Order: sequence, then structure tokens, then C-alpha cells
Amino acid sequence: MTAIELATSNGTLMDDHGADAALAIRSMTVSYGQKPAVFSVDMTVPRGSMTAIIGPNGAGKSTLLKAALGVIKPLAGSATVFGQPVENARARIAYVPQRASVDWDFPTRVLDVVLMGLYRELGLLGRLRGTHKTRAMECLERVDMQDFAKRQIGQLSGGQQQRVFLARALAQNADLYFLDEPFSGVDAATEKAIINVLQGLRADGKTVVAVHHDLSTVPDYFDRVFLINTTRVAEGTVEEAFTPQTLQEAYGGRLAMGQLGQTALGT
Ligand SMILES: Nc1ncnc2c1ncn2[C@@H]1O[C@H](COP(=O)(O)OP(=O)(O)OP(=O)(O)O)[C@@H](O)[C@H]1O
Ligand SMILES: [Mg+2]
Repeated sequence: MTAIELATSNGTLMDDHGADAALAIRSMTVSYGQKPAVFSVDMTVPRGSMTAIIGPNGAGKSTLLKAALGVIKPLAGSATVFGQPVENARARIAYVPQRASVDWDFPTRVLDVVLMGLYRELGLLGRLRGTHKTRAMECLERVDMQDFAKRQIGQLSGGQQQRVFLARALAQNADLYFLDEPFSGVDAATEKAIINVLQGLRADGKTVVAVHHDLSTVPDYFDRVFLINTTRVAEGTVEEAFTPQTLQEAYGGRLAMGQLGQTALGT
């Protein structure tokens, strides 16, 4: 039996440990070709927590998020959101994709991008009302982008676009927020604005899962970590799972020991 067949056969096994969790991924394997990008991964995200997904480039972080969302079909395994199959819980999830993956070829106003966050609630035939626009504007204000509402999204800088995508996720009023590298390529002020919004969500009892590359800010920003390098390396509170050993295991030789010491030991 090949490794993939083994994962497939195990993927049907379910446990009920994740029923209370915001997100429970079980035995998930995702493959784009011969070699799995994510292999037999379990992940449990408690409600109301803020989790960093950490691992080197190509480790399967974006793939894991997309498979958890049901955007790509896993080869094996499953994901439940608040105890429900993900298909039944879509309205409770907001997703901000990795920035490089979004390409705005057609002209769209910033306000319309945020209103897209409301389409699920509106349904196909729902009428957009003044209250929806007010809500979208409030979300733009939360990320300090209200002055750009009428601008074309393609004309904004990368950091400004990132704030707008966060506003769109806020408009969804979800319970679980997935963000794929929300701080990538943004300046210090935007990073601060984004982390304030995310910590505000957590204070409201929402659950946040973000792919994160800057190891030095992990202990300040997050309460839990999930380390991945195709397979799960470690998972738990920052204290438990964010250690020189787990980082070494996830990054191998790619991370200088000095960097490991500074980040994980807090020196
Ligand atoms: N659409 C695709 N088709 C084929 N292979 C893919 C596809 N998307 C990702 N991969 C491959 O799957 C593996 C995992 O990719 P993924 O994007 O999940 O990594 P990542 O951890 O998010 O990396 P990064 O830190 O660079 O964003 C990589 O080897 C990548 O080349
Ligand atoms: Mg990625």
C-alpha cells in the first residue's frame, strides 16, 4: 500500500474530539500531483483562540487552509467547522487569501469589494440597501480606509488592498476568520492596524487562524501555533509548541540557530 492509499483509507476514520472546536481537521491529505502537499494532518482550533500557522515556503500552509475551506478537495480526510461539515458552515467563515493570488483585472470600487462580503447574506436576489452600504463603510473605517471607498481597488497600494480585504472579511460578520499572510508586504502602521482589528475580533469571541511568517512577533500576536512542513510538526499554545526544537523540525537547516534562539526563547 502506498503512503497516499494509506492516508485515504485512514481518512474515513472520524473522531468526535473536534465537535466543540471552531475548526477540526482530521487525517487530511491534499495532493496536486504525485507528492502530497499536505499529508495526514490533524488540527484542532479551539473557539475564541488566535492561531498562527507557521512553516517554510511550500510547506502546505495555504493548501491546508484552502482544503479546510472546501476550496480544494482533499484526497483524504475531512474538516468540520463548529462541529458541522464545512459545506454547512460556510456562512460562518471569512477568508482573506494570500495577496499574490488576487488579481484585479476589472475595475471594481473599494466599496463594492467590501459589499462582496455581504453577498452570501443577501443571496442572489437580495436587494442591496442603504444599511448594507453603511455597514460596509463602517468596516472600511475599522481599517482606516473610508477615504478610499470610491477608488478602484487596482489603483491602491498592496498594503491598502490588504486593509480592504480585511474590511470585506469583517463585513461578513463571520465566527471564524482565515487569513493567509495578512502582514505580508505591509508597513508597520498597517501591520499594527491589522493586528488591532484581529485582536478585537478575538476579544469579541471570534476565532482567528492566520498564516504567519514573522517568527519574532508570534508570542505577541498569537496564543496558539500550528507548525507544518507537509505533515504536522507541532500544535498547541505558544509556550508548548513554539520552541527551538519544533522550529528546527519545521524549518530544518533553513533557519539560523540565532534566529531560533531569539524568537522561541524570548531573549
Ligand atoms: N495549484 C497548484 N498546483 C500544483 N502544485 C501546487 C499548487 N499550489 C501549491 N502547489 C504546491 O504545493 C506545495 C504547497 O504549497 P502551498 O502554497 O500550500 O505552500 P505554502 O506553505 O502556503 O507556501 P508559501 O509560504 O510560499 O505561501 C508546494 O510545493 C507548491 O508548489
Ligand atoms: Mg502560502
